[in-house]
Amino acid sequence: MNKVKMVEFAQHGDDRGHLVIAEGNKDIPFDIKRVFYIYGSAADVVRGQHANRESEFVLINVAGKSKVKVKDGEGNEAIYCLNRPHTGIYLPTMVWKDMYDFTPDSVLLVLASTHYNPDEYIRDYDEFVSEIKGGWGEGR
Ligand code: TYD
Repeated sequence: MNKVKMVEFAQHGDDRGHLVIAEGNKDIPFDIKRVFYIYGSAADVVRGQHANRESEFVLINVAGKSKVKVKDGEGNEAIYCLNRPHTGIYLPTMVWKDMYDFTPDSVLLVLASTHYNPDEYIRDYDEFVSEIKGGWGEGR
C-alpha cells in the first residue's frame, strides 16, 4: 500500500495554454506499453473492481474528476481524488482498485506497464485476499 503514490508531472504552460509531460521510465515509474482512457461513465458507476498480478498503472484525470479507492487486501484502504491534469496516481501490482464518482466531463487516462492480458486480472475480491495472504509470487 505504501507503494501507491501521487505523481506530479512537469507543466509547460504559457499564454497559449497548458502542456503536461509524462515520460516513461522518468515521470512514470515503468516503460509504458499500453494507454487507455475511460469517459462517459455515469456518477453512480463503479469501474475497475479488480487487482492485477502483473500490471502497474498510472491514472490521470486529464479532464473532469473521479475517485479511486485502493485496498491492499490486508484491511488497509485509501481514497484518492483525481482532479488535476498534471497529477496522477501510481498503482503497483496486487492492489484492489475501484474507480467511481465520475463527473460528466471525466476523461480518465490510464498508462499501463503491460500489454492487455485478461489472465493477469483478479476480478474476485476473496480470491485477491487469498492470493495476498498466500504470499502470491513466492511460490511461482
Ligand atoms: P474493464 O477491465 O472492465 O474496464 P475497467 O477496469 O476500466 O472498468 O474492461 C472493459 C472491456 O475492455 C473488457 O471487455 C476488457 C476490454 N479491455 C481490453 O481489451 N484491453 C484493455 O487494455 C482493457 C483495460 C480492457
